[in-house]
Amino acid sequence: MKRLEGKSALITGSARGIGKTFARAYLAEGASVAIADINLQAARATAQELGDGAYPVDMDVTDQASIDAAMAAVVRQAGKLDILINNAALFTAAPITDIRRDDFDKVYAVNVGGTLFTLQAAAKQMIAQGHGGRIINMASQAGRRGEPLVAVYCSTKAAVISITQSAGLDLIKHGINVNAISPGVVDGEHWEHVDAMFAKWEGKKPGQKKREVGASVPFGRFGTAQDLVGMAIFLATPEAEYIVAQTYNVDGGNWMS
Ligand SMILES: NC(=O)c1ccc[n+]([C@@H]2O[C@H](COP(=O)([O-])OP(=O)(O)OC[C@H]3O[C@@H](n4cnc5c(N)ncnc54)[C@H](O)[C@@H]3O)[C@@H](O)[C@H]2O)c1
Repeated sequence: MKRLEGKSALITGSARGIGKTFARAYLAEGASVAIADINLQAARATAQELGDGAYPVDMDVTDQASIDAAMAAVVRQAGKLDILINNAALFTAAPITDIRRDDFDKVYAVNVGGTLFTLQAAAKQMIAQGHGGRIINMASQAGRRGEPLVAVYCSTKAAVISITQSAGLDLIKHGINVNAISPGVVDGEHWEHVDAMFAKWEGKKPGQKKREVGASVPFGRFGTAQDLVGMAIFLATPEAEYIVAQTYNVDGGNWMS
């Protein structure tokens, strides 16, 4: 039996990467999925590629009007919202002395403001519907501890873990479970950008940081988006009903907490 049959899901930043892999998995489990992304052209292509049940939604998680319009689009298309995956995020890296305020503002607007206000809009919709829901936030091992070059991104992901706790405790009275997934290192276009940033600041050759990081994972290899799918599905199923305000590491053993 399909585990998400008849469910309506919205996944932010799902035109590519982890969000796209989650969308494919949710569709296979019987859900409809809003491929919501700031890159509408890519969202359209992804929705077309994923086929039945997937539809593109133009969404900038830093813009309240865009968040509200995306929620309305989901309700128009699917009649309801059952599951939100707060997945859109930006990465940045710089030594403390080189952090720029405009970069800080941009990354916080997406990773923290975008997560909180998309969660808020989804919660309002779910409360109005009256039958609960599931919200899954994408945290990171970066949110579990600091890194010398990564003060901005790490602190945004610590904020995501904290928002998950507060929102989880606040919303469970409405039957809305808020939890988070904390990946380690996950292959994809995102990591090309991460690798380039480390090449710049640590003087490494292209690909070197990625190789080093992959070799240090206790499991023995870099993660893939597919490695996260089991948790993303489980947290949306009835079996996860008693799980509230938690952040789960799915990282090959990188972090224990
Ligand atoms: N890849 C990793 O190693 C890794 C590790 C830990 C956590 N994560 C987290 O997992 C999530 C997905 O990561 P990914 O590797 O697939 O990233 P990615 O960069 O490949 O994809 C992010 C998507 O978000 C979209 N996006 C950016 N800004 C947006 C905005 N303002 N509004 C809507 N959409 C926007 C982008 O267009 C893109 O499609 C992120 O929250 C990331 O922080 C990733």
